Amino acid sequence: MKKKSFLLLISLVLVITLSACGGSKETGTTAEKTRSLRLAHTQSSNHPVHKSMERFAELTKEKTDGTVEIEIIPDGVLGDEREYVESLQKGVLDMAKVSVNSLENFDEVWSIFALPYVFDDMEHGQKFMDSPEMEELYQSAVDTMDILGLTWYDAGGRNYYTKDKPIEKPEDLEGLTMRVQSSKIQIKTAEYLGGSATPVDFGELYTAIQQGVVDGADNGIVAFTENNLGEVAKHFSFTQHVYSPDILLIKDSLFKDLTPEQQDAVKEAAKESTKFHSETWEEERQEAIKKCEDIGVTIHYPDLEPFAEKLKPLRDEYAENERIAKYMDLINEMK
Ligand code: GCU
Repeated sequence: MKKKSFLLLISLVLVITLSACGGSKETGTTAEKTRSLRLAHTQSSNHPVHKSMERFAELTKEKTDGTVEIEIIPDGVLGDEREYVESLQKGVLDMAKVSVNSLENFDEVWSIFALPYVFDDMEHGQKFMDSPEMEELYQSAVDTMDILGLTWYDAGGRNYYTKDKPIEKPEDLEGLTMRVQSSKIQIKTAEYLGGSATPVDFGELYTAIQQGVVDGADNGIVAFTENNLGEVAKHFSFTQHVYSPDILLIKDSLFKDLTPEQQDAVKEAAKESTKFHSETWEEERQEAIKKCEDIGVTIHYPDLEPFAEKLKPLRDEYAENERIAKYMDLINEMK
């Protein structure tokens, strides 16, 4: 009897062990961890870039069979872009969409995007963003910041707008205080044009203009419209001084911790969301111009030559830096 129950016990142990082994074979050795990633950005959820990132989240979920989920946190709820980059580095945030200008504080090479009139026009900028040189820049951020750039979204050029004074020539900036991003170059740009500038978080910009803390700022027309800035700034001038795309970032060590299949899926989803964004961008831009006019904003199209001329010394100053000069040359060659 005793022997019988001993044998029964042994067979039970064997069955459990075997079925455990069989189970692990069935699910494969690399059981994918389910990830939920938080992605912060400063724009409103009406902005096309938010919609493009929703597309990115959907595609990622689809392509990873639901093992990677992305939660998008808009409206600057988690702070401003400089904080996002710091949070990515510290590992308290997983992903962020920032204006490419926000990286200037972390590695000087990114200054090429904040320097005025480096790109001739939007097409010139788009060509660079799709080039292997841009991939090289993304890679440099992995080495210097532990941050990987996955893709970019067009945000248009940056243009000056003011509460009540049209900017039609550089001298019109004299005596004005402009809000800028956290960027030394943007401050210098306003100063070279005869004005002054102060950094303000994007989320506080509406109130800063409304209360007269600043006289104006610069942005793309879509960001201007989707954040209702036309309610407080009545003149928008297409000065196009900076081509300023957005980029989608992920903490690199977190990305490397995904399985190779998940990594490919996230990369593919990001690139596809850029395509989605580009398809409707021009239409969104035209619609934004119309919306502005409808609420009484006057749009100006100044001659850009005098602006570019006044800002040449600023470009020359930064071109003394070898790394920046290298990219300026590459950008020039793409004209
Ligand atoms: C652009 C950009 C944002 C950025 C904003 C700003 O709209 O797309 O990412 O926050 O500029 O001026 O701060």
